[in-house]
Amino acid sequence: MRLVLVGPPGAGKGTQAEFIAAHLSVPKISTGDIFRANVSQGTPLGVEAKRYMDAGKLVPDEVTINMVRDRLAEPDAAEGFLLDGFPRTTPQAAALDKLLADLGTALDIVLELVVDDDEVIRRLSGRRTCRGCGKIWHVEFDPTSREGICDRCGAELFQRDDDKPETIAARLREYAEKTAPLVDYYGAQGKLVGIDATGPVEDVTVRAIDALRSYG
Ligand code: AP5
Ligand code: ZN
Repeated sequence: MRLVLVGPPGAGKGTQAEFIAAHLSVPKISTGDIFRANVSQGTPLGVEAKRYMDAGKLVPDEVTINMVRDRLAEPDAAEGFLLDGFPRTTPQAAALDKLLADLGTALDIVLELVVDDDEVIRRLSGRRTCRGCGKIWHVEFDPTSREGICDRCGAELFQRDDDKPETIAARLREYAEKTAPLVDYYGAQGKLVGIDATGPVEDVTVRAIDALRSYG
């Protein structure tokens, strides 16, 4: 299955992507994770991306599209994939359609995680990520048993640089302006399925998997 997860910052895309990708046995491809890995390794791509990420802005389309094209050319993505955080603009969506059409294939479904801004702010301000295994936690909604330490691998947790209040506000503005139009783009293709992404993580996963099943 070729699937895209779309939704505002903090909607739970990364959290759900892990479960859904495992359920479907497809690789999870997160552009945010790829950019953050490049930032921490200090690559030229990371240096360029960091300027935008720290400001809560989207990285330019050309840079992002080229990066995804390379990643989708890897053998593990040949039979299917889950894209988390891409596409995020109409030109990115059009480039993805073209890339897949050139390979003789197409997206199957776009799953939209629907949550309001107040919930997004609560989720992002309490998010913590594991430095070791990358697992996403939340100080209130999904706490670890020892503060600041990952229950899964024992490594320390960190707070993302772009989860500061002023950056969160900029990311929400960027989402409303540039990413929200994708709902119409994929709606017109008949590929969009929206699910309520509030409530416990496990309930959202069940809704997501039910939506995929009923879609085919
Ligand atoms: P990216 O990493 O994609 O960030 P984002 O879209 O802003 O999404 P987040 O990762 O912040 O949130 P999420 O929806 O994954 O939520 P999570 O599961 O963590 O992108 C970062 C930056 O990279 C962008 O700003 C941009 O600069 C650049 N970039 C990336 N892709 C790009 C592209 N295509 N084009 C251009 N630039 C790009 O959950 C959030 C918190 O809530 C966690 O603490 C979690 O534990 C908690 N939580 C999750 N589900 C629930 C629940 N059901 N109930 C309670 N808490 C929950
Ligand atoms: Zn860990």
